[in-house]
Amino acid sequence: MSEIDSAFGPSLQRVDGRSKVTGSARYAAEYTFANLAHARLVTSSIARGCITSIDTSLAEEVGAVLVLTHQNNDVLVPTESAYPAGQAQTTFLPMQSNEIRYSGQPIALVVADSIEIAEYAASLIQVEYASTGHETDFSSQLKRAQKADGAQDITRGDFEQVFADAAVRIDAVYSTATEHHNAMERFSTTAAWEGSQLIIHEPSQWVIGMRAHLADRFGLEPDQIRVISPFVGGGFGSKALPMPHTALTAIAARRIGRPVKLVVSRDQMFTVGGYRPASISHVRLGASSDGQLLAYSHDYFTQSSRSDLAGMPGIAAPNVLYRIPAVHARDRFVDLDLNHPTPMRAPQEVPSIFAFESAVDEVAHELGVDPLAFRLRNDAGARDPITDLPFSSRSLAQCFTRGGELFGWAKRSLAPRSMREGDWLVGLGCGASIYPVFVGPASARIRLTSDGRVFVHTAGQDLGTGLYTVVAGAASQVLGVPIDRIRVEMGNSDLPFGSMAAGSRSTASLVPAVRAASIRTRDRLIAEAIKDQHPLAGRDPATLSIVSNAVVSTVPGDMASELVSEILKRVPGGFIEETADFTPEGLPLAMLSNAYSGGEGALGPVVEKKWAMYSFGAQFVEVRVHKLTAQLRVSRAVGVFGAGRIANPRTAHSQLMGGMIWGISSGLFEATKIDNRYGRYVNTNLAEYPLPVCADIGSIEVEMVEEEDLAKEINPSGMKGVGELAVVGTGAAIANAVFHATGRRVRHLPITIEDVIDAL
Ligand code: MOS
Repeated sequence: MSEIDSAFGPSLQRVDGRSKVTGSARYAAEYTFANLAHARLVTSSIARGCITSIDTSLAEEVGAVLVLTHQNNDVLVPTESAYPAGQAQTTFLPMQSNEIRYSGQPIALVVADSIEIAEYAASLIQVEYASTGHETDFSSQLKRAQKADGAQDITRGDFEQVFADAAVRIDAVYSTATEHHNAMERFSTTAAWEGSQLIIHEPSQWVIGMRAHLADRFGLEPDQIRVISPFVGGGFGSKALPMPHTALTAIAARRIGRPVKLVVSRDQMFTVGGYRPASISHVRLGASSDGQLLAYSHDYFTQSSRSDLAGMPGIAAPNVLYRIPAVHARDRFVDLDLNHPTPMRAPQEVPSIFAFESAVDEVAHELGVDPLAFRLRNDAGARDPITDLPFSSRSLAQCFTRGGELFGWAKRSLAPRSMREGDWLVGLGCGASIYPVFVGPASARIRLTSDGRVFVHTAGQDLGTGLYTVVAGAASQVLGVPIDRIRVEMGNSDLPFGSMAAGSRSTASLVPAVRAASIRTRDRLIAEAIKDQHPLAGRDPATLSIVSNAVVSTVPGDMASELVSEILKRVPGGFIEETADFTPEGLPLAMLSNAYSGGEGALGPVVEKKWAMYSFGAQFVEVRVHKLTAQLRVSRAVGVFGAGRIANPRTAHSQLMGGMIWGISSGLFEATKIDNRYGRYVNTNLAEYPLPVCADIGSIEVEMVEEEDLAKEINPSGMKGVGELAVVGTGAAIANAVFHATGRRVRHLPITIEDVIDAL
């Protein structure tokens, strides 16, 4: 196929764009049912302890038709395993007992005929607690840090010795803030029972996982549950893993024999699901006087919860960037009395790469060398430094070189505080982007109908990133049918198995399935076309192809053709339907069946004895700091990325630009604050949780390099994923640019005016 031979697919406009801007795209909370009841959550006001009494009588007096609490809740089947061993974000199921494990924990679900009554009734619930001491102060608890599932220790050479002997040494602590996803669309569940059949409308990045989770908790068969999520109004990881409110809403619906809708309030979203946990990195980095990185140690601490110790480790990605002979890197977790974290926008890479790429910049400064040249000089090259496996593709050096040209790096003067424009101090910084490649199994079903339309069905979810368009494009390419006659249906657990929309894996996993189903459909149509008595009878199938609404001969001079609608008249039912299952080669059978039954199950980024698979990129940032007010802005950013074949440059560009904006957002704005006296988040709203607006974002330029991925047996589409790549490295590039502008090294994110004002 021609598109498989070129690095860039066609730039298609979003096939779902019109439905979104006109409002005809229906989001989960817009689905309604006859006799629908509305629910409101009540959450705990203490961080640890238990409920000693809960009085629901006033709520019932004002019209609550049900108040679900731990006293009358259904008993759910417990789970021993949080994601990735299971589906759920945490093993803890609230409202199964009177125990309180975090502030903001759901303690009651109030159901009424209207939202207003549900909210009022919820405000009348009287709760008494017995509080035990809580601990939510991450930085004070590092001594309790432990190793847990998913944590790595990477050791190579004799770090202490090599570091002690290094000519230049950096020994510094970096930290990043807790961040919440804050997607525009809130969490919601609309649950309806039809007999023993449960229907869930909920914005989800993983409908198959949610189905499996609910089946397990309720003791149902998966085919008794349908999870529907055709459009998602932003997820960023928050909607990937099942959260407790879904089952609670389903219990309420079963109890009252009516469909129930719960829309989680903005403030409750901070504790109903997860967040990016705070991190602290102790980095030591040493180099020789001639600019060779020699020794690297990284103690990466991140926060988890008392319910589940494991969280988001971080030290893999930094170790993939440069060749460093002596390494000692460790992941450690600190469990606190907070809700459990969950993946958010490159969860493992953003905080640890911020620390590491800042330290690299510090070493370059100590050496007095250009930080871009320093990175190129230490580039890991063709093999993964951790495993010594070949990279399936890696364009990091090319991205740095090309990005430097686009950005005008050559005009950067070496010394900090040496560039100015009027009242503004100008700083230029760079940083590396990296994100692992995951490829998982996926299935697609194609139906070609006599009116020339093509239906593509798969359970995978489009987060708004462009997957509908990519899937339609893949079918269109193979089938030769124009894109406007292709209808893609996604985000429904009844459809053929689809990958989870997380880990930037959807395109690489789904495109091979869509292609395979399209090829089968085309081959069957052509096989029908060459039967006796028909215009294309007896021709070699290889000489035929579909062009728009007809099968035509591609032999020069042969004008024979037949309309698809005519061919399909001979097919029983008048349509062709084909399903194909894609499995990356070498995926162990146990992983495959685990994936089909709603578990994690993908290859990557390290495929044993074969490949190390990562996407890479280079980011360049110009910051301006006002010399009087310390106003701090990213005025310009350039990102160059190598992510394998690009399915659709238009939507990929948009994702990469969006990733860089996330990076600016976490670099300068986002932070969830905790009042440790109460163990409670305090800025749980969009007024006090700072996010950039359009005026905060200057010029952003994105380029994608041509890249061929060699891991064809695992990644046959050649596409590596762009969803999370571009949020990684932006923070370091900003911090490095702030240092260049002001001479002030800020070792935490976000960086705010307060960090630099006294340096001016
Ligand atoms: Mo993403 S944080 O892998 O949904």
